[in-house]
Amino acid sequence: MGMLDGKVAIVTGAGRGIGREEALLLAAEGAKVIVNDVGASVHGEGGDKSPAQQTVDDIVAAGGEAVVNGADVSSWIGAEGLVQEAVDRWGKLDILVNNAGILRDKMSFSMTEADWDDVIRVHLKGHFACSHFAAVHWRARSKAGEDVYARIINTASESGLFGNAGQANYGAAKAGIAALTVILARELERYGVRVNAISPRARTRMTEDLFGAMAQAEEGKFDAFGPANVAPLVAFLASPAADDVNGQNFVVYGGSVWVMQGWTPAGSVERDSRWTPQELAEAKGKLFESHPSSIPPFSFF
Ligand SMILES: NC(=O)c1ccc[n+]([C@@H]2O[C@H](COP(=O)([O-])OP(=O)(O)OC[C@H]3O[C@@H](n4cnc5c(N)ncnc54)[C@H](O)[C@@H]3O)[C@@H](O)[C@H]2O)c1
Repeated sequence: MGMLDGKVAIVTGAGRGIGREEALLLAAEGAKVIVNDVGASVHGEGGDKSPAQQTVDDIVAAGGEAVVNGADVSSWIGAEGLVQEAVDRWGKLDILVNNAGILRDKMSFSMTEADWDDVIRVHLKGHFACSHFAAVHWRARSKAGEDVYARIINTASESGLFGNAGQANYGAAKAGIAALTVILARELERYGVRVNAISPRARTRMTEDLFGAMAQAEEGKFDAFGPANVAPLVAFLASPAADDVNGQNFVVYGGSVWVMQGWTPAGSVERDSRWTPQELAEAKGKLFESHPSSIPPFSFF
C-alpha cells in the first residue's frame, strides 16, 4: 500500500535533478506518473528527451507506471496537451507538481531582455499554464458533481523569498510563484484542490557551482544535499494526509523541513488624516521602532 495508490500525477522537469526524484517517489508510492521534460540545458536551450525516458524506464523497472511527455510547460498549447495526456491515458489528473525551470543569472545591469523573458516565461508562465489547465479539468469535474481530489505542488525558491543578488529574473519569478500558490489555494479550495509550494535546496546541475565542494556527498554520511531529500515532502503534500495543508510554502533540504511565514506587518504609524512626506520622515523612528530599515536578511533557523 502506497500513500498515492490509484492517483495520476504530472511532474514537470522530471528528467533530471529534483523533479526526477519526485517522479520516482510518487511512482513508488503508487501514482501513475507523466514524466514531463523538454530536455533543456540549464540555460534553457536544446531538447534532449533521453533524461525523461530514463526516469520512465527506472519507474517501470521498479514496477511502476509512467510515460514521457516532452512539452514545453511555458507553451499554452503544450500545457493543455500535458494535462490532456493524463486524462486521455488514465482518465483524470490528481496531482500536478510544477518543477521545471532554467537559470540565467546576471546582475540587473548586465541582464538582457531575453534573459529576463525566458526565465520569467519558463518558471512563472510555466507554473501558471499547467495550473490553469489542471484547474479547468478539476472545476469541470467538480461542477459535474464529482468529489474531486486534487493537489498542486509548486516550486519556489529562497531566492524569491529573500531576494538573491544576481537573480533578478529568477527571484522575481519564484516570488511570483510563492504569491501564485496562495492565490490558487484561495481560488481552488472549493473544488477540492490544495495548493502548496516548496523552496528546495539540493545538489543538481543548477546549483553545483553555487554549493561547490560543500554539497559533495561523503562516503558513509547522510547526503544532506541529495535531491532525493526533497521528494518525501512533495509526496506527503500530494497525499490525502495533507488535506488540511493549503497555501503554504516550505523550505526543504537534507532532513530539514521549514514552514515559512509570508509578509506580515512589522511596524506601523497610524492616524486619521493624510501624512506629508516631511511628517513621514519625522515618524520614521516610530515606523522602524522594532524592525530594521536596512535590506532584510536571509532567514535561517
Ligand atoms: N537545486 C536547488 O537547490 C534549487 C533551489 C531552489 C529552487 N529550485 C528549483 O527546483 C526546480 C528543479 O531544479 P533542479 O535543480 O532539479 O534543476 P535541473 O536543471 O536539474 O532540472 C530542471 C529540469 O527542468 C527541465 N525544463 C526546463 N525548461 C523546461 C520547460 N520549458 N518545459 C519542461 N521542462 C523544462 C529541464 O530540462 C530539466 O530537466 C526548478 O524549478 C528550480 O528553480 C532548485
